[in-house]
Amino acid sequence: MNVLLLGNGGREHALALALAADPSVTGLYAAPGNPGTAQVARNIDLDILDPAAVAAKARELEAALVVVGPEAPLVAGVADAVRDAGIAVFGPSQDAARLEGSKAFAKDVMKAAAVPTADARTCTALAEVEAALDVFGAPHVVKDDGLAGGKGVVVTGSRAEALAHAEACLARPGAAVLVEEYLDGPEISLFCLSDGARVLPLDPAQDFKRIHDGQQGPNTGGMGAYSPLPWAPADIKEQVVREVAQPVVDEMARRGTPFVGLLYCGLALTSKGLRVVEFNVRFGDPETQSVLARLATPLGQVLYGAATGDMPETLEWRDGAAVTVVLAAHGYPGSARTGDPVTGVDAAEAIENAHVIHAGTALAADGTLLSAGGRVLAAVGLGATVAEARTVAYEAMSRVGLDGSHHRSDIAAGI
Ligand SMILES: Nc1ncnc2c1ncn2[C@@H]1O[C@H](COP(=O)(O)OP(=O)(O)O)[C@@H](O)[C@H]1O
Ligand SMILES: [Mg+2]
Repeated sequence: MNVLLLGNGGREHALALALAADPSVTGLYAAPGNPGTAQVARNIDLDILDPAAVAAKARELEAALVVVGPEAPLVAGVADAVRDAGIAVFGPSQDAARLEGSKAFAKDVMKAAAVPTADARTCTALAEVEAALDVFGAPHVVKDDGLAGGKGVVVTGSRAEALAHAEACLARPGAAVLVEEYLDGPEISLFCLSDGARVLPLDPAQDFKRIHDGQQGPNTGGMGAYSPLPWAPADIKEQVVREVAQPVVDEMARRGTPFVGLLYCGLALTSKGLRVVEFNVRFGDPETQSVLARLATPLGQVLYGAATGDMPETLEWRDGAAVTVVLAAHGYPGSARTGDPVTGVDAAEAIENAHVIHAGTALAADGTLLSAGGRVLAAVGLGATVAEARTVAYEAMSRVGLDGSHHRSDIAAGI
């Protein structure tokens, strides 16, 4: 079958690698893709936020399946347009994508489905925010209701800082913020596939959001990840499906807006038990790079099955672990410098059990690889243990050169 993959980040390069390795995927297109996807797929020009344009292109390419990488096209209704054109699509409808697009909507669904999450109040005026901050106490958690590109949440001991963030969010017309109970404990990411009725969990992962070692500095899109989690409870996947993913999928079906695609459950393992931090409605980046590196079941068939109500019962995994380390450009997560030459990718890939995932890269006319975004690339290492995979990933990273770049040195350390 022909598959059209939407997106251009590291997540999409990882998806493209897994799709290209599936013998049933005979034609693979990435829109717009990146230099990494170009090695295993045909990159094509397309406005992926234009639902009609995506549906038309899928028809023209005779795609049997469209896989949507990022959240923005889903929130824009791209999956609806493709489905209406009679083409299978892995990704939720605009209505179901509200699980990510509105944190207040997600809380409402969780309440209806009795899913454990932080207690929260949705506020549209500063006086409500002040009252809610007093109810929950410090540390304060204030979240923009809508999509904010990872910059919508402030967790702080300072009431003034919490109020300032709420005020900034509420300055936009029609805006709302959530004030939440603080959750303690480690966070994990569990990806669950759904065909609208059933749920199939992938292996859990943990990502590293802060820019600096030791969870210091501002949040980023993600600086690294590893999977699986040797320290997590052995039945974590079953527990999350039972207490979180299946009830949410059931509730979405009950509302007449079934969830088809990937329900990313962001969870905190608190002293009081499992709690949902948030949902995303697509694969996470960079967790996908670690999770898919170990998936043995052909991905195209799995995603096609989910999109058409014929999902497999189980997934096969390779033994061992995968660690992903992200290389960021000078200035990231502030304004990142682009256009610098990237060296050593082939040398990094020559290491056994290592590969490089492209994210913000571009090819110059003369074939030189250049930085073209904040998160430039990632080194992925596989090994029998997290520690071995980590050594491989860092060995690969040490061979990559990019002037002014930086990466964390403590991804998956001590696991
Ligand atoms: N209730 C909470 N208690 C403690 N920390 C939180 C809470 N909610 C969010 N956080 C922290 O803020 C981060 C971002 O919040 P999240 O809801 O995932 O928003 P987004 O990913 O859209 O920025 C989380 O990964 C977590 O570290
Ligand atoms: Mg998050």
